Amino acid sequence: MDKIIVHGGHTLAGTVKISGSKNSALPILAATLLTKEPCVIHRVPDLSDVHYMLQILNHLGAEVERASGVVTVKAEKVDTVAPYDVVRKMRASVCVLGPLLGREKEATVSLPGGCVIGDRPIDLHLRGFEALGAAVRVHAGNVKVFAPELVGAKISLKGKFGSTVLGTDNVLMASVLAEGTTVIEDAACEPEVVDLANFLNKMGARIEGAGTPQIVVEGVKELHGAEHEVIPDRIEAGTFLVAGAIAGREVTITRAKYDHLAAVGTALEACGFNLTRSNGAITIRPNGSVGSVDLRTEPYPGFPTDMQAQMCALLATARGDSEVTENIFPQRFMHVSELKRMGAAIELDGATAKIRGVNGLSGAPVMASDLRASAALVLAGLKAEGETEINRVYHIDRGYELIDEKLGSLGAHIERVKV
Ligand code: EPU
Repeated sequence: MDKIIVHGGHTLAGTVKISGSKNSALPILAATLLTKEPCVIHRVPDLSDVHYMLQILNHLGAEVERASGVVTVKAEKVDTVAPYDVVRKMRASVCVLGPLLGREKEATVSLPGGCVIGDRPIDLHLRGFEALGAAVRVHAGNVKVFAPELVGAKISLKGKFGSTVLGTDNVLMASVLAEGTTVIEDAACEPEVVDLANFLNKMGARIEGAGTPQIVVEGVKELHGAEHEVIPDRIEAGTFLVAGAIAGREVTITRAKYDHLAAVGTALEACGFNLTRSNGAITIRPNGSVGSVDLRTEPYPGFPTDMQAQMCALLATARGDSEVTENIFPQRFMHVSELKRMGAAIELDGATAKIRGVNGLSGAPVMASDLRASAALVLAGLKAEGETEINRVYHIDRGYELIDEKLGSLGAHIERVKV
């Protein structure tokens, strides 16, 4: 298991290119199962989660080719069963349910378990499939959905914590080949949903309203092959902006989309950072010290839960007190105890982290627990005095393409050690 060692205290400066979005690429790759024709997807990031998705597609019978960020999938015939050993490594494998149900009218996928960021139910996905006329059976750890035919319906995806991103993707992918009109109410508005809908429309689907809480789908008889470029990864972009905030002199990210990052930009500006943008490039410059800010994670366009851990790392070194409340995954605070081992002063009060800014952090051996928590530890390590050893970095490789190389190119002293 690799580990990453960060030698803190080195100032970052320069430019880094943002990769394609993991959370767009995964459902878009799953959507290629909806047609027998080849689909070509550009700017697919080289990440372990993407590899798992390609393995699943392959297991389901699709031919998959990959060459420097371009993935071609041809699913002439598909199997409808994705067993435990192929799906267990990644929760997002659940998003093959929708396209398989749409195309073959049945799908069996091993149920995703919980994970360190909390319970990860799929009740809303299943509610959507049922509304389209599918029966749902859960047996021996698998969920099977099947229908003689799918018929458009009005479906609400409102859950206890708002809508659901992958649930919206799944229901969208099942409904594009359903008979008649489907209206998805309380749909997730995240840019990744819009990206998937744009790809499905290129395949011949008729979807309107993606990016708003109401999506309307007119079912079509079949879809065809299409070519698509995945949007920039807004969370990778946000993470590099926080790297610039925590340890930078002047860091520029390119090939990013500011609109997708506005809540993060606003939070950084509230902490006193200066952000400038031109043509897909965003530059962050520190302004002396880090100011404190109170944040609440919310569905898009609110502050994203996937940036909460990274902001906790930044605010740990702010002047003054901050409160960070997690409204999407209330237990997503695994990074807190590790940051405290580095000298951060953070107390958890339910789903709120109460952060008292400290003057400095000190390097320590720490354990990565999930993707974004790991990123937070790397960021804290950039600022900390001495050496931070981050173990279990396979978590970070799930979602950040070449993070050590990219940070190294900005001047970070960071090394990956093969253990
Ligand atoms: N929820 C339900 N029932 C469901 C589905 C979700 O109650 O059927 C709840 C969840 O427990 C959570 C909330 O609804 O409290 C939102 O979960 P959502 O379904 O939107 O999460 P997801 O679609 O499984 C995606 C991203 C996550 C990101 C969340 C929220 C992918 C592959 N994953 O997950 O990304 O945190 O949306 O924005 O797109 C990450 O990249 O690190 C990551 C965890």
